[in-house]
Amino acid sequence: MKMGLLAVALLMLTACSKSSDADKPDGAELYALNCAGCHDPGPGHPATMLLEEMERPVAPLIGRKDLDKDYVHSVVRNGLIEMPPFRPTELTDADVDLVFTYIKTAKGPSNAP
Ligand code: HEC
Repeated sequence: MKMGLLAVALLMLTACSKSSDADKPDGAELYALNCAGCHDPGPGHPATMLLEEMERPVAPLIGRKDLDKDYVHSVVRNGLIEMPPFRPTELTDADVDLVFTYIKTAKGPSNAP
């Protein structure tokens, strides 16, 4: 019994460790973890509210077809006016690619142009 618990604890540790390759998060998970809090649709999401004021065609990121890859990379690395930058240790270039693909391909809340 005790060994079983230990095994579970060890598994959880490995799952949380960043150096572990196994079970890497996909674009949807990376978006949910790093971007959704500010960029999801609806009130209470500062980025969505600001982008609405900035008169983007669609305020939520999900489903936006007008964003290009270089722009998303540069915003994520450098931040924007209110948006904090992400370091490569937090989000690798490959992670940003995954998030970008997810944003482009996921079904948006409204029909993005
Ligand atoms: C702490 C809140 C916050 C987080 C987390 C955040 N953003 Fe942002 N983001 C903003 C805000 C606010 C803006 C609106 C522009 C501004 O004022 O900075 C923005 C703008 C953007 C834009 C520009 C959109 C446009 O139309 O020009 C992109 C692209 C973007 N964010 C991508 C991301 C991605 C990808 C992630 C996750 C890896 C992310 N953001 C995480 C707050 C955030």
